[in-house]
Amino acid sequence: MREIYTPKQKTLLALWKKRQLKRLNILQGSVRSGKTWISLVLWAFWVASMPKNGTYLMVAKTLTSLRRNCLDLLQALVGERHFTYSLSQKEGRLFGRKVYLEGVNDARAEGKIRGMTLTGAYCDELTLFTEDFFSMLLSRLSDPGAKLIGTTNPDHPSHWLKEKYLDREAELDLLVMQFLLDDNTFLDAAYVQNLKKEYTGVFYKRFILGLWVAADGVIYPQFADHAERYLLRFTKEEERWTFAQEVAFLSIGIDFGGNRSLTTFVATAVHRGFRKLTALRDHHIIGHKGEIDSDRVNREFIAFVKQLQAEYPGIVIRYGFADNESQYLITGLRKACKNAGLPIQIGDSCKRPIVDRIHCGNALFNTGRLQIHEDCHLLIDGLKAAVWDSKAAQQGKDVRLDNFSSDIDILDGWEYGWEPFLRKLLPEYKGVRG
Ligand SMILES: Nc1ncnc2c1ncn2[C@@H]1O[C@H](COP(=O)(O)OP(=O)(O)OP(=O)(O)O)[C@@H](O)[C@H]1O
Ligand SMILES: [Mg+2]
Repeated sequence: MREIYTPKQKTLLALWKKRQLKRLNILQGSVRSGKTWISLVLWAFWVASMPKNGTYLMVAKTLTSLRRNCLDLLQALVGERHFTYSLSQKEGRLFGRKVYLEGVNDARAEGKIRGMTLTGAYCDELTLFTEDFFSMLLSRLSDPGAKLIGTTNPDHPSHWLKEKYLDREAELDLLVMQFLLDDNTFLDAAYVQNLKKEYTGVFYKRFILGLWVAADGVIYPQFADHAERYLLRFTKEEERWTFAQEVAFLSIGIDFGGNRSLTTFVATAVHRGFRKLTALRDHHIIGHKGEIDSDRVNREFIAFVKQLQAEYPGIVIRYGFADNESQYLITGLRKACKNAGLPIQIGDSCKRPIVDRIHCGNALFNTGRLQIHEDCHLLIDGLKAAVWDSKAAQQGKDVRLDNFSSDIDILDGWEYGWEPFLRKLLPEYKGVRG
């Protein structure tokens, strides 16, 4: 008979059957290891066994991530007859029991839950919750036999969830179960191999090995050690032409300089179907404080775009994404481009969390989906120089070291150019915003 659970998942179900679940039940570990799947099966069985008039809650960082990660899967697992939901009403019905749906980020969620007496709570991606929200949630779980079931990937070793809860399993009424990628017997070997390839360094340790480790050392080790493997050079004109055929459009990231940093532009080619990225050209504006004004930035940007047009006549230069903290500079740049007859759309950078951008850069490098044109000297140096901030790491934060070195300046500008497409580039990556 075909198995319907992995051995690890069965162990968890056996604990439930033997009534050995605890008040808090947290499944943690590698990506794709089968945590969410079994946690939802368990949640459904458990809710069905609890009072009809109990108060049940499912919560994730946002309602959208709750739907994406859990609600549709729950419906597929138990069938539409047993679970339906409405995101607009923030409510569902699971085996006839009303289930409230909330997002941690929703400003009103905390107030609403504060007034509840909960029978059960399901939490998706616990490390993305704030500690306040989580402890408030626990204080509401006061019905007899109340339980929390949650899942998470590892994070920093001094994350509140690790230090205050997981490490105190013995003192608290808490069950922690670790799931590893290899525990998931449903994944095919080639898929697992590719998945492992995507992750490097701290991301490998956390998301593949399931370890709670700090971000330390070099950020792009593969590139720092073997940059030549990732560089692109056109030796013949035909190669440039063939390359242009693969590209959907160019997108330019623009980072405006501050007191100690330079204004930078990086043009990235986004390949058809978001299969690949190629950084094509970079530039920074040289000059001291007082020497650079918006006219100069506009002039150099227009020259940068025109040079790209001349070099890659077959490629559309579609977007410019600029540092969104400088709105008046963006407006000026947009006008200047229009006056120069450039059809480029200038918009705000979306400023995704830096860790997500770093993970994406690493995953693309590791899977042969990111190349850097050899003329991008600034970007090449910046990628090689990028390191995690070890002081911040000691305080439990993942931060890219910014010691105002000009090498690092280029990275934000580079990332602004492609971060809007991160979901298209890595559809399965959940990201730290949830
Ligand atoms: N019991 C099962 N039967 C069939 N497929 C399963 C089962 N458990 C897991 N899977 C498969 O494995 C995939 C990963 O499982 P799941 O989403 O539960 O992992 P996860 O540990 O929550 O991962 P992440 O940390 O990335 O959220 C599922 O999308 C599904 O394809
Ligand atoms: Mg999951």
